[in-house]
Amino acid sequence: MKAIVYDQYGPPDVLRLVDVPKPKPRDREVLVKVHATTVTIGDTIMRSLNLPIHGWQKIMGRLILGWYKPRRHILGMELAGEIEAVGQKVTRFKIGDPVFASTFAVNFGGHAEYKCLPENGVIAIKPAHLTFKEAAAVPGGGQTAWQCLKKGNIQPGQKIMIYGASGAVGTYAVQLASRHLGADVTGVCSGANLELVKSLGASQVIDYTREDFTQNSVTYDVVFDAVGKLLPAQGKKALKPGGIYLNVHLDSDGGDKLENLLVVTELIEAGKLKPVIDRVYTLEQIVEAHRYVDTGHKKGNVVITVE
Ligand SMILES: NC(=O)c1ccc[n+]([C@@H]2O[C@H](COP(=O)([O-])OP(=O)(O)OC[C@H]3O[C@@H](n4cnc5c(N)ncnc54)[C@H](OP(=O)(O)O)[C@@H]3O)[C@@H](O)[C@H]2O)c1
Repeated sequence: MKAIVYDQYGPPDVLRLVDVPKPKPRDREVLVKVHATTVTIGDTIMRSLNLPIHGWQKIMGRLILGWYKPRRHILGMELAGEIEAVGQKVTRFKIGDPVFASTFAVNFGGHAEYKCLPENGVIAIKPAHLTFKEAAAVPGGGQTAWQCLKKGNIQPGQKIMIYGASGAVGTYAVQLASRHLGADVTGVCSGANLELVKSLGASQVIDYTREDFTQNSVTYDVVFDAVGKLLPAQGKKALKPGGIYLNVHLDSDGGDKLENLLVVTELIEAGKLKPVIDRVYTLEQIVEAHRYVDTGHKKGNVVITVE
C-alpha cells in the first residue's frame, strides 16, 4: 500500500511517499480503507520534534517519540474510510461500514491507504451527512475541544472567551460552547477570521492583532485558550471572580476517548457541530500540506484525500 513515511525529524521534505506492506487485522481489529485523513499541528510537531513543552515533559516526549529518530514512521492522527476486513472476533463493525476514527492511541498511521484499528478503539460510524473528507477532520479537534470544555462546567448564558477560535480545536470549541452549551461566546482570532468565527456561533469577536483583551474591562466565566498561545496570567486576568481558566495543553488529558467521539458524533448528527475545512491536498501533496500547517495559521482543518 501507499504510505507517507519519515525516518528522521526535520522539515516537511523528510516525508516520503513509499510502498509498505498492507496490514492484516488481528482477531479484534478492523482494517480500514482510508479515504481521507488530516495534517494537524500535532503531525507537524511529531515530524519536526519541535515540542511545545519544556523541562522534564520535553525529555519524556522525546523518549516516547524516539530520541534521535522517530519510533513511529507513519503520521496521521485521524481518518475516515470504509471497513474492508474484520478480525474473527469483531462484533461492533462489519465489512463496508463507513467509519471515522482517531489513531492517536494506536501509533498514528492515518497517512496511508490502510490502517488496522482495535474495534473497541476510538472509532465510530461516520455521520451519514458528512463526506469522508469532513469526517476525517472531526476526531482530534472535536474530542479535544469537548474534553476541555467539560472541565469548565459551563452553564447556559455564561460568558466564555475562546482564544485561538479559528484553529481546529477553536472552531469546534466555539460551536460546542454556543450551540450545545448555550454560552455567550467571544472568539479571539485575527481579522481575516472574524466572520468565520461569528458564523460558528460567537456573539462577539476580538481581533488579537488590533486589540489586547487584557486591557479592556470585560470579564468572563470561562476563558479557554484553545491554541496554547496565551500566558496563563493573561487568560486569568480576564476571568470573573471564581471563573475558570482552561488551556488546551493542560486540560485536554489526551482527550482521546470513544465516549468523547460519540458525544461529538451525536452533536454532528443533530446539526449543532460541523467541521471547518480550510484546504484539501492529496497524499502525494503531503509536503505542501505540512508546509501550510507549519505556518500556524490554518483555519479549522487541513484534509488529505487518499485514493
Ligand atoms: N487538533 C487536534 O487534534 C489537537 C489535539 C490535542 C491537542 N492539540 C493542541 O492544541 C493546540 C491547537 O491545535 P489546533 O489543531 O487547533 O491548532 P491550529 O489549527 O494549527 O491553530 C491554527 C489557528 O491558530 C490561530 N493562531 C495562531 N497564532 C495565534 C495567536 N497568537 N493568537 C490567537 N490565535 C492564533 C490561527 O489564527 P490566525 O490565523 O487568525 O492567527 C489559526 O487559525 C496545539 O498546541 C495542539 O498541539 C490539538
